[in-house]
Amino acid sequence: MRPFYVTTPIYYVNDRPHIGHAYSTVAADVLARYAKLRGRPTRFLTGTDEHGQKIEERARELGKDAKAFVDEMSPPFDEAFRKLGCAYDDFIRTTEPRHEEKVQALWTLLAEKGDIYLGEYEGWYSVADEAFITEMELKALDEVTRSKVRKVREPSYFFKLSAYTDKLLAFYEANPTFVQPIGRFNEVKAFVREGLRDLSVSRTSFTWGVPVPGDPKHVMYVWLDALTNYVSALGGPAAPGAAPLFDRFWPPSADVVHVVGKDILRFHAIYWPAFLLAAGLEPPTQIFAHGWLTINGEKMSKRLGNFIPPGPLVDELGADVVRYYLMREVGFGQDGDFAHRQVFARYHGELGNGLGNLLARMVTGIVQKSFEGVVPAPAALGYEERELIAIAERAAAQAASHLDVVAPHRALDAIFELVAAANRYIDRTAPWALAKQGELERLGTVAYTVLESLRWLSVMLSPFMPEKTAALRAQLGLSPLTPTEALDAWPKAGDWGGLAAGTQTAPAAPLFPRFDPKDEEAILERLGAAGTKGADAKTGAKQGEQGVEAPKAEKATKKSDEAASAAKQEKSVSESSGTIVFDDFMKVELRVGLIVEAEAVPKSDKLVRCQIDLGEEKPRQILAGIRLHYAPEALVGKRVIVVANLPPRKMMGLESQGMILAASDTEHGLSVLGLEKDIAPGTRVS
Ligand code: MSP
Repeated sequence: MRPFYVTTPIYYVNDRPHIGHAYSTVAADVLARYAKLRGRPTRFLTGTDEHGQKIEERARELGKDAKAFVDEMSPPFDEAFRKLGCAYDDFIRTTEPRHEEKVQALWTLLAEKGDIYLGEYEGWYSVADEAFITEMELKALDEVTRSKVRKVREPSYFFKLSAYTDKLLAFYEANPTFVQPIGRFNEVKAFVREGLRDLSVSRTSFTWGVPVPGDPKHVMYVWLDALTNYVSALGGPAAPGAAPLFDRFWPPSADVVHVVGKDILRFHAIYWPAFLLAAGLEPPTQIFAHGWLTINGEKMSKRLGNFIPPGPLVDELGADVVRYYLMREVGFGQDGDFAHRQVFARYHGELGNGLGNLLARMVTGIVQKSFEGVVPAPAALGYEERELIAIAERAAAQAASHLDVVAPHRALDAIFELVAAANRYIDRTAPWALAKQGELERLGTVAYTVLESLRWLSVMLSPFMPEKTAALRAQLGLSPLTPTEALDAWPKAGDWGGLAAGTQTAPAAPLFPRFDPKDEEAILERLGAAGTKGADAKTGAKQGEQGVEAPKAEKATKKSDEAASAAKQEKSVSESSGTIVFDDFMKVELRVGLIVEAEAVPKSDKLVRCQIDLGEEKPRQILAGIRLHYAPEALVGKRVIVVANLPPRKMMGLESQGMILAASDTEHGLSVLGLEKDIAPGTRVS
């Protein structure tokens, strides 16, 4: 199996760790855990970025020696990430000798190549972003960042970045998924197509950095220093055979994904591959640029004092709830909002009512009472069981393909389809009634089917919630997962039945105990979020995808639509003008359906009887009153939107198992809702 190396940005130590940092690191941890589960040799790196003017100045402001300052500021990052359950293999600090040596080695390679020359830099330097900026970029900065911009004129070494314009474009062409999401890649390409200027790569006006080999009056530009961490932590650059980790985990031997925030994409997608190409090394496989989080609808800022440290959240809710929320709430790659009240909404809804209840209903409710806590053997499988198994297989396949392309939020969507389906299965098969009637054989089948679904869920959710899934497995009587190299543990079609009948379950406290509203308020109070409305009224501001060019501070000032819409979820119908809570909307299961057969219902001038493929084992029969507007044969092959969780209803003696959505007006008559693309039948619409 192909090795996998995933990294986070290394974090500037002028600040304390906050939820934005946690976001990058948790995402990388999920990817690493997933790769390990799939049996891939995996390495995961994070660390701290400790040189540069910004940090030197911060230390000076505090009256501290720079080295003493970074030694004090780096460990809290390690602690915060460990506390969030992030299991990296290495934590690199750029002030470590192992790193500094390799930065100098890379410099030497670039110099030997003839790509470095001495000149003079005259222009603007943004200390907040540690970036050389143009006059235009200066104008776009917000006030705080602009106040930290300096006019610089100093001797400087330059890297011949201009010579790499075409090489980079060719590299992008040959690697069409090098930057994700694709929209950001297009911005990167457009920027490079404009032509690149040579890059100043050393500074002489301060000393807190790695000395330039042979000319120690210069310290290296902090981004050249920092980017090198991705290889220095593997012992590279190094000749083949000299650094085993580098040989194993750097291309061409491995897939390398750098998870970064959108604000630092330019450095990763342009400078970094250019340095590597110049040094004769291969660039990473992919740079994934995630969006920015606002907090309860506001930009995080010193002024608002809303830098949320992850530690207290973890203390109150546990690491896994925070991890889950971060991965679930916001489409990875998009901007979004961290809204404290929304954390509770998801906690109670999806985790408590969805997953936690499923486990408790079965393990504590049924297996304990009817089977003395022992997993029963299933008897003959009926349609309901086969349907749930098909849903489990589809969830597993879809979640894997989403994780393969770094879409953790989509993977969670797919996985929670199984949670919902398993809960529906319980509702439909009514195990309590079976228990009452003493139908133990059928009850055994139902119990087994749910327990095995839970086992599948414990595997698929383990990258997201390692502790909770271990606790879930313990209740099922299973030991924690131990990913093994070369052994793919992800559930697949054909794996159904892995839970051995006879296993002794161990009912325990609820996985996600309910907080009553008073407790919830007390927690919010302690977290300083009592006055927040979830994602409330701050909905107006519009945030598009941010350009690769705009420096970080400017980008962070805008608010996102997603933040706004997430924030809306707090209000209920009763208190606001006819709106519903988001969870209510999600109760309506809208799915893509493909009409495979359609015929007129005899004796009815309106009804058409459709067989609709909803990605289930067999098509569903749905009756629709659309005959006046559509000839039945014209419907075959159409993709429509179906409400899939309505109870069956009889019409003209025929059962209808859902509803097709349509709209009508007097001018056009009726039109069924369709899709612009051939989205797969069964896909959830949201
Ligand atoms: N030191 C550089 C990275 C060097 S990588 C070779 C740096 N550090 S940082 O501490 O300022 O930011 C680190 C990461 O945190 C970035 O990916 C950034 O996008 C992310 N975040 C900081 N604030 C954030 C949010 N509010 N939301 C999401 N991520 C944010 O840049």
